[in-house]
Amino acid sequence: MSNKLIAPSVLAADFANLQRDIEMINNSDADWFHIDIMDGVFVPNISFGMPVLQAITKYAKKTIDVHLMIVDPDRYIKTFAELGANYLTVHFEACTHLHRTLQAIKAEGMKTGVALNPHTNVNLLADVIQDIDLVCIMSVNPGFGGQSFIENTYNKVAQLKSLITEKGANTLIEIDGGVSDKNSKKLTDTGADVLVAGSFIFKSKNQTQTITNLKQSVNN
Ligand code: DX5
Ligand code: ZN
Repeated sequence: MSNKLIAPSVLAADFANLQRDIEMINNSDADWFHIDIMDGVFVPNISFGMPVLQAITKYAKKTIDVHLMIVDPDRYIKTFAELGANYLTVHFEACTHLHRTLQAIKAEGMKTGVALNPHTNVNLLADVIQDIDLVCIMSVNPGFGGQSFIENTYNKVAQLKSLITEKGANTLIEIDGGVSDKNSKKLTDTGADVLVAGSFIFKSKNQTQTITNLKQSVNN
């Protein structure tokens, strides 16, 4: 039986009620917490930094999936390990020495993740895929929640799935941006393993139920 994972994006939570929203995720069928760190340089937006992540991990009881949208991420690898990140995802476009960065993430005891902007071809990962635990395919241009899903994502998922199979790698495929019940099933049928969802969950009336429905629909 497949176990496709749901990772609510905390960026879409109500920051004035952060503990409440974290508990909602703890008590839901969600699998991971997806945490977006933006520096205002790599992406045209600033989200939040270490003190907020520390507040989140104080209450979060599930896997912490940190998505770094920052330049020169090597500077902070140790810090994110200390803050409790389980997966640390860096952007392909932000790493001059990606192999070295991946080794540094592993050395800190975390799982390695690489995110790809919509224009970045998945085959650029061919020579490092064995070192990557998770590839995050951006299905919007990173920087903001609530954007429209880019349809070419399905092609990228299929190409990445072939690459992973061809190389005998054990890499999860995560999709981030504009995920909803309109594209979730097609994404997992094409090979996605982890679905990040922000607005679709947090803007819904019954967030817990939305997570349950999403989880059930992709695991049928
Ligand atoms: C975008 C972030 C996403 C975002 C997803 O740059 O990486 O994780 O929070 O939000 P939605 O699901 O609203 O597109
Ligand atoms: Zn993200």
